[in-house]
Amino acid sequence: MQIPTISSNVVKQIEDKLAGKTISQNYVEEMEKTMAESMQGLKRTHRCAELSAANAGETVTVMGWVQKMRNKGGLVFVDVRDRSGIIQVVFEEGKSEAGLIEKASRLRAEFVVAVVGTVEKRSGAVNKNLATGEIEVIPSELRILAESETPPFPVEENSKTKEEIRLKYRYLDLRRPDMQRNLLMRSQAATLTRQFLAEEGFLEIETPVLIGSTPEGARDYLVPSRIHQGHFYALPQSPQLFKQLLMCSGCDRYFQLAKCFRDEDLRADRQPEFTQIDMELSFVDVDDVIDVNERLLAKLFKEILDVEVSLPIPRMTWREAMDRYGSDKPDTRFGMELNDVTEVVKDCEFAVFKGAIENGGSVRGINAKGQGGMPRKKIDKLTAFAKDYGAKGLAYIAIQEDGTVKSSFAKFMTEEEMNALIAAMGGENGDLLLFAADKNKVVWAVLGALRMELAAQMELLDKNEYKFLWVTEFPLLEWNDEQNRYTAMHHPFTMPMEEDLKYIDSAPGRVRAKAYDIVLNGNEIGGGSVRIFNPEIQSKMFEVLGFTEEQAQEQFGFLLTAFKYGVPPHAGLAYGLDRLVMLMAKEDSIRDVIAFPKVKDASDLMTEAPTRVAGEQLDELGLMLAPM
Ligand code: AMO
Ligand code: AMP
Repeated sequence: MQIPTISSNVVKQIEDKLAGKTISQNYVEEMEKTMAESMQGLKRTHRCAELSAANAGETVTVMGWVQKMRNKGGLVFVDVRDRSGIIQVVFEEGKSEAGLIEKASRLRAEFVVAVVGTVEKRSGAVNKNLATGEIEVIPSELRILAESETPPFPVEENSKTKEEIRLKYRYLDLRRPDMQRNLLMRSQAATLTRQFLAEEGFLEIETPVLIGSTPEGARDYLVPSRIHQGHFYALPQSPQLFKQLLMCSGCDRYFQLAKCFRDEDLRADRQPEFTQIDMELSFVDVDDVIDVNERLLAKLFKEILDVEVSLPIPRMTWREAMDRYGSDKPDTRFGMELNDVTEVVKDCEFAVFKGAIENGGSVRGINAKGQGGMPRKKIDKLTAFAKDYGAKGLAYIAIQEDGTVKSSFAKFMTEEEMNALIAAMGGENGDLLLFAADKNKVVWAVLGALRMELAAQMELLDKNEYKFLWVTEFPLLEWNDEQNRYTAMHHPFTMPMEEDLKYIDSAPGRVRAKAYDIVLNGNEIGGGSVRIFNPEIQSKMFEVLGFTEEQAQEQFGFLLTAFKYGVPPHAGLAYGLDRLVMLMAKEDSIRDVIAFPKVKDASDLMTEAPTRVAGEQLDELGLMLAPM
């Protein structure tokens, strides 16, 4: 028998007694007292907020935490909270025994209690803010199941407590209603996903967490092997290779809610361990993957948020996304699109513009509507912001309400050139036009980031609006200056677009991939691709990536061998579940939808992981620490 509220001390006494040992009367009394304050003989009938006026007159038993106790002398109000919400319990002279009122007045925040009582319609004012605001419980019994020290912060909605404190006491933080709602939403998303994918013929299959390291992608987390000293497992960055092998195994459709591990620098939308809704399908092409995923998203948003996602979700090529939004994950909730004005300014004398164009770059701008009156200091801040994204500067034209113009480069331009530029930008009185001139890559990054920054400043971002977008036809390869070679933009198994295969030797950077990302409000919530299943194309891909035949064999040999025994055409996609739920819950950080997240330096403030380990553990693994 397990009685949760009995201290280990008392358990020991019970064990002693059962073993026939004599124990002092004191212990027996303490034991009996503790037993009296246990759940014994009680069974919870309802969660707190499951009660309503429909239960009036019923005797109920609720259990939960004391939200607050107010003692008005002879009248004690106790709010009891559980996962569902709060119910008010009223101890009143004449209705409750004196002993009970005295006991209630000893309650403090976060004590755990059980209350037996009758549901009554409130005699006093109805509380419209509370789901159970019309009723109260008049108690006949109160048990204190556990006491609590004064919590380090109040357990309530919209905490102002610093995140470090919240994370150190995460178990308390998670009691707060907003966090409970997030956990519930995450659980619903997971359950609905499983249901939907099962109905669509997907099998849920687990793939290993201890795997071999592959150098492509982010940095691996490594796990030393005790048995094979000097050898290491890696934790998976995603189940990519295994899900492709499952297609070779004839599983046809696979999915998994998979923990993934990436040792990269953390941001608000990144964690070192995170969860993917990962899937792979056989005998399909891009449209099939998109179709099943659009229906999955529509189901999740309808059932969890009652939001209709209108299908089909718009699609945009990567190139169009970059040209119009300066981003491969454009936020399409607002306009402020980029304008390419290279042609308009190509003959002007402004060295900045001229130089960029001569270097094969472009000049592009955005129009921040109504921001023409922005003070110089604020424009300087935007310039500093642009420099963080690689800009050498930020040229501007601030059109005042009276039509006069303030500009950082007007002196280098003729009046006609200025007018043509303003016209090309759709500039009107009161507008602020911002320009970046550089290589395309820099111009996109700068204006894309600036566009988002301005939208935040101008309060154009509505969290209640959900704008989905597929971004397609990504470049297959990305030039890496540091490594002086091409790397795969998605991963080395992504299929090039058939019509671009002809460029793979002559102009590899020009080849587009059958890859797609699903974007929501400027966040990449998922991505995937059609995979290469043709051995010649795969060899070519490794060659372009600078792998020798031996290196490819060494790292991916098992996959290449599997492909020799009949590989079906296949494609897949993975969502970042954390990011998806973050947006559904209208939170700004994925930490708010993960029960026990890590902070910026990848540590866990509650368990203090990572920790040092004992010398013997290192010896066992054959490891020695380098002096620091
Ligand atoms: P990718 O690397 O794009 O694709 O990852 C898929 C999705 O996972 C989420 N994500 C993250 N979420 C939180 N923290 C992180 N550190 C993090 N990194 C990625 C993103 C991203 O869109 N195997 C491929 C998928 C495939 O091709 O099927 C893959 O992992 O939302
Ligand atoms: P300068 O002639 O260097 O004073 O520059 C004139 C204006 O052009 C200033 O507003 C600079 O911030 C801006 N500027 C400089 N380099 C760039 C660039 N690469 N793109 C856009 N504007 C720039």
